[in-house]
Amino acid sequence: MKKYTVFATVVVLLLAVFAGFKSKNETVVEGAGRPIIIQGPMPIEAENFAKKLEKVKVEKSGTFVFYKGKLNNYPVIVVKTGKGMENTAAATAVAIEKYNPIAIINQGTSGGHDPSLNVFDIVLGKRVTNIGSLKTEAKNEGVGMDPSQWIPMDLMASEGSGSDPNAEKIRYYEGDKDLLAAANAVKDKYTKGKVVEGTIGSADVWNNEVDRIKWFHDNYGTSVEEMEGAAAAQIAQAYNVPFLGIRVLSNNKTNGGQYNPNTAAANQEYVYEVVKKYIDTIESK
Ligand code: 5AD
Repeated sequence: MKKYTVFATVVVLLLAVFAGFKSKNETVVEGAGRPIIIQGPMPIEAENFAKKLEKVKVEKSGTFVFYKGKLNNYPVIVVKTGKGMENTAAATAVAIEKYNPIAIINQGTSGGHDPSLNVFDIVLGKRVTNIGSLKTEAKNEGVGMDPSQWIPMDLMASEGSGSDPNAEKIRYYEGDKDLLAAANAVKDKYTKGKVVEGTIGSADVWNNEVDRIKWFHDNYGTSVEEMEGAAAAQIAQAYNVPFLGIRVLSNNKTNGGQYNPNTAAANQEYVYEVVKKYIDTIESK
């Protein structure tokens, strides 16, 4: 009996030594295992991607739905955030606190501000900005309103007296370099339109006035508008999490581009390629 115990102990010790030896020789990948978060506002903007994940577990927090799964064995969480800035900001903060993501991609449909972009083209958010954050001019009663004179308001400028000279500057959130590089690297896999870098403008507003759209295009440099990107970018920056917005045009008032809901699925197909590429980037670091 004693002999067997000694034998078993020796085997266990050898296994332990072997395991230790192996782990010392494995490449330790910094950050590996921290999930990549893919956000989509509406069911048609999240569920296609969620279906592509393996081993999916669904979790909910408030109205936000998290599809936790694997892509090529790497953890990826698709989040159905709901539409608009508030849902998106809250869903972003909850996701960061709960899952400690390595990166966040906010994706979905958008409306064109640039007449050279067509429905099905995709904009990579080199910059994202809040186009609902505005101050009006001071005008007395009876003088009317003039939205063309509205002034940008930077929500992140001084929280003090209001005398910060930057308070009326446009705040741009920069897209993460590595995410942008991954997105550019798989551009050719997208065949339904072109993929360009640009500026994404966000607000809880759907602009249909072409002159107003032009005003944003001229003053903010916007390529497209949607209702979520800047909210996610602001919160991602608050926590120092790499962020990128990726938006397909589902409509473009500036050149008559009619709304096409199939663009939402097309964008997810492309973002899937971006995520695979980004996983390669993380794993080769
Ligand atoms: N203006 C604003 N939001 C748009 N979206 C698509 N096109 C536009 C547009 N022209 C997206 C928003 C939101 C939903 C209404 O569709 O991001 O989620």
